[in-house]
Amino acid sequence: MSQNAPASRPTGPARAQLLLGRCLRFSASPFDMAPTEAAQIDSGGAVLIEGGRIAAIGDGAALRAAHPQAEVHEYGRAVIMAGFVDAHVHFAQTAIIASWGKRLIDWLNTYTFPEEMRFADPAYGAQIAARYLDLTAAHGTTTVASFCTSHPASAEALFAEAEARGQAVVAGKVAMDRNAPDALCDTAQRAYDESKALIEKWHGRGRATYAITPRFSPTSTPEQLDAMGALWAEHPTCLMQTHLSEQLDEIAWVKGLYPQARDYLDTYEAHGLLGARGLYGHAIHLEPRERARLRETGGAVVHCPTSNSFIGSGLFDMNGLMAEGQMVGLATDTGGGSSFSMLRTMAAAYEIGQLRGAPLHAAQLLWLATCGSARALHLEDEIGHLEVGHAADLVVLDLASTPAIAQRAARAHDHWDEIFPTIMMGDDRAIADVWIGGRRVRRTP
Ligand code: GUN
Ligand code: ZN
Repeated sequence: MSQNAPASRPTGPARAQLLLGRCLRFSASPFDMAPTEAAQIDSGGAVLIEGGRIAAIGDGAALRAAHPQAEVHEYGRAVIMAGFVDAHVHFAQTAIIASWGKRLIDWLNTYTFPEEMRFADPAYGAQIAARYLDLTAAHGTTTVASFCTSHPASAEALFAEAEARGQAVVAGKVAMDRNAPDALCDTAQRAYDESKALIEKWHGRGRATYAITPRFSPTSTPEQLDAMGALWAEHPTCLMQTHLSEQLDEIAWVKGLYPQARDYLDTYEAHGLLGARGLYGHAIHLEPRERARLRETGGAVVHCPTSNSFIGSGLFDMNGLMAEGQMVGLATDTGGGSSFSMLRTMAAAYEIGQLRGAPLHAAQLLWLATCGSARALHLEDEIGHLEVGHAADLVVLDLASTPAIAQRAARAHDHWDEIFPTIMMGDDRAIADVWIGGRRVRRTP
């Protein structure tokens, strides 16, 4: 943990806030039981916010009578739920989202690395960090876990911008010492020193969590992976984020670079980079041994469906992994992912499920985008749930945000049938409001 005194947590407005609407919460995982039984939906419900936290959840009329001093926000039939948690992003790729026509390795070399080089300028990093958090908040995302660039200033920029907004964030400086432009490469020692300095400054400060961030095995020497493993052992409350088995070409490349490794995951395991607080992005083409080791160690895999179709990576095995008891988060993977929206991301997860013959229920999609991602980030006691005592990080969903969605929702026969068209067709227009740390976030125009 940080040696620094923690910054005070956001307390939100002094006056209590009372949000009235249709409250949606989960009491269990919808992958462990009938999905609709894992969730409760209360029309005429309310959420009371005090001191930046959820102070009460209950019947709207009753809470209103009990808290006459509270400022009231009337959301009607809109759905009040936990804000979205995006478990794997690259904030530094904001400006190159939707770049055409390349698969992973060419996409990195053509679009990504040149853009990441621009973060040598701290002012550019600060500008993109602010732009990124504006865009994601407008899409209902209240926490992200982000790769930064190899420049420590890029991580400083995101941590500082999130802190100024009272927002929980997970981030880490990328470690990368080969197979990338010289201007982006550090060394094993530099990555260790710079990451350690960032951990000491930011990890556990306010709402910040540090993630040790070796980009992926092809861009690190074994010496650098060792250094990152040692750093993690010295700071075991940090998360560790990386990429795993995204594309077949990448896996073949890893085999050539690490001839002794039993498989891709073993390149991490052999260097102390497999563990319960590990986050492994993509994880599409997994060997049985890799699945067994992830299950045994409790490492989390993060599904990035718009990225997987956009970069042409493959079809994630959501139902198989869930049935095995794996920890799974959901993420945009901006800018390999083609959207900032977790609604669009849920839609893509649904479509990939269909391509594998296993459609996900709307409750499962919303759970993945909130509780599932929060659990993967080991932040489930703080975010991802509409629960008393949790941070007041909330999204309010308009289920009739466009004429196309409204006419379909009008035909709905129950809550879930009404919610599903917004998952499939919704975007930032469906985000009626967002609350972060008990503060109402004004949407950017
Ligand atoms: N693998 C290594 N780096 C990246 C990245 O920036 N995006 C994606 N999608 N995969 C990666
Ligand atoms: Zn990624």
